[in-house]
Amino acid sequence: MSNSFASSGAPATPSASPAAASFGPKITAPALLARKKRGPKIAMLTAYDATMARLLDEGGADVLLVGDSLGMVVQGLPNTLPVTLDEICYHGRAVARAVQRAHVVGDMPFMSYQSSVERALDSAGQMLKTGGFEAVKLEGGQPFAAHVRALVSAGIPVMGHVGLLPQSVHAMGGFRVQGKAEADAERVLADARAIADAGAYSIVLEGIPSELGQRITEAISIPTIGIGAGPACDGQVLVCYDFLGMYPSLKPKFVKHFAELGAQIVAATQSYVEEVRAGSFPSAAQSFGAQPKKDPPLETGAQPVLGPPAPSYGPASEDS
Ligand code: KIV
Repeated sequence: MSNSFASSGAPATPSASPAAASFGPKITAPALLARKKRGPKIAMLTAYDATMARLLDEGGADVLLVGDSLGMVVQGLPNTLPVTLDEICYHGRAVARAVQRAHVVGDMPFMSYQSSVERALDSAGQMLKTGGFEAVKLEGGQPFAAHVRALVSAGIPVMGHVGLLPQSVHAMGGFRVQGKAEADAERVLADARAIADAGAYSIVLEGIPSELGQRITEAISIPTIGIGAGPACDGQVLVCYDFLGMYPSLKPKFVKHFAELGAQIVAATQSYVEEVRAGSFPSAAQSFGAQPKKDPPLETGAQPVLGPPAPSYGPASEDS
């Protein structure tokens, strides 16, 4: 099946929000597909909550993926397998509320699509209806081409994912680089071709040699987004806590720290603890007088399900 987004020629739809002007037009699945020919390379990151999503969107990330990696980095699990559809949708709503420009994609959790095409349609439908997602990502190659075809026919943009498949960690015998031997490389290439031919608008290549990343990128007509797949891919993706240096003790070869927030958070916490114990926080600057000019109601911080970001959660000053 040819890619149904390619023929539409649809331009990126501008966001309805007036504040989005400084962020640029909303990024769509067709706009990402068009980057294969026109560039620039796609910069994708994971996000799991509204505050992080707002910052990454402001920084210009093209795609925010609510990855099932949330099982590991948010829930502290050893792998992604226990993550549920409801959990992905819960985090998806938080991310979708905060984003103005980035394209928001949700990972289909383990066993939310593998058992049948019907199950895949139900799960992906729920993700778009209640998770605020604009597209879904699913792991797997040739055996899942029929699933991708059915989702695309139903109007659901699909991002593929081949190579190292974290949901198949037990079958692979661990998180191992795939496609090193020629026969295995041929299999990964055939997987990527099958998913592209089924109508996916982009595909993640994870944990494969750089040469294979380049070979696949040259062989298929949809953008490849690499994580541990070398520099030739049409884009790159990293887990947000990894690129921000919040796991200094665990740094896979493909991760680069673009900041060292982990160390900064520990240092900030130490300062806070010291000031609380010393009684120097809060000072007068962070304290209210006995008789404010008027009594502002405390804002609750509650947000609509989908809508613009909420302001602060309390009065900024006694006059506010
Ligand atoms: O779950 C995830 O975060 C992912 C990316 C690392 C590609 O699948």
